[in-house]
Amino acid sequence: MTTARTVDAIRRDAAARLRSAGMDSPELDARLLLGAVLDLDLTGLISQAARLLTPQDIAALERALRRRIAGEPVARILGVREFWGLPFRLSPDTLVPRPDTETVIEAVLDIVRANAWQGRGLRILDVGTGSGAILLALLHELPDAFGVGIDISLGALRTACANAAALGLSARAAYVAGDYLAAIRGPFDLIVSNPPYVRTADMAGLSTEVRDHEPRRALDGGADGLAAYRVIATQAVGALVPGGALVLEIGQHQAADVERLTGAAGLHRHRPPRPDLGGVLRVVTARKPPP
Ligand SMILES: C[S@@+](CC[C@H](N)C(=O)[O-])C[C@H]1O[C@@H](n2cnc3c(N)ncnc32)[C@H](O)[C@@H]1O
Repeated sequence: MTTARTVDAIRRDAAARLRSAGMDSPELDARLLLGAVLDLDLTGLISQAARLLTPQDIAALERALRRRIAGEPVARILGVREFWGLPFRLSPDTLVPRPDTETVIEAVLDIVRANAWQGRGLRILDVGTGSGAILLALLHELPDAFGVGIDISLGALRTACANAAALGLSARAAYVAGDYLAAIRGPFDLIVSNPPYVRTADMAGLSTEVRDHEPRRALDGGADGLAAYRVIATQAVGALVPGGALVLEIGQHQAADVERLTGAAGLHRHRPPRPDLGGVLRVVTARKPPP
């Protein structure tokens, strides 16, 4: 049980406990968890370092620390994660948006710029929208665009819808429950997706944080990890306008296979696979041939 009582002492105590429990980023986690309990950002934690915590604050931090030490990701404990500088509420049905996925946003914005599509009322489809991270980040960047988010999980769609409202984007975002693109016709100028892409056999080897705290259907990509790409590539051809682009997040070492699938579906490579900040090829971009 934590006994120190000032913000600063309790933060250091929490970080030490997280460190001895083997957490990767104990200082950051301690700041985030304590900040959430006290509703303070980093500056607030510093400026109020000498403030005394109430027993209720200490009990709330203790609960959060126990969850973290048991392997629950900080974003799950907080119920919110920042993506592309925007706050996204999470639920048990949504994947925690990853920094790697911001590579998808960069790839789309590059395509929009290269085709001089700014200012057009672009129609964007996000397949497997989850928390709505990709679609809503794009609508935030492209004020003239409209978007549809599809997910097979109603719980995820409810969360995406709430995030659209909280970000002031509801008027340009619609949500549809469906199995990939089966329920939707289009046409769309851009189809984006970060589908499940972990091979089923690799699921058991994922870290506790991912395996035990992320929804399985957000991760499991079937026997070879490519099941979703097979379906989405085939369905996207019919839902894209001629000249429209399909932008897919991929897992490590999947670029060649995913490009083969988009090619077999009749799409052309639009850009070379794009690396994330860690240098891993993260995004494949294909285009429906112009008329
Ligand atoms: C890897 S998560 C991506 C979530 C979000 N787009 C992101 O990037 O953070 C994959 C999403 O696909 C959804 N999904 C899985 N199978 C699906 C299917 N057959 N049809 C539609 N969505 C599906 C999951 O519910 C999950 O929200």
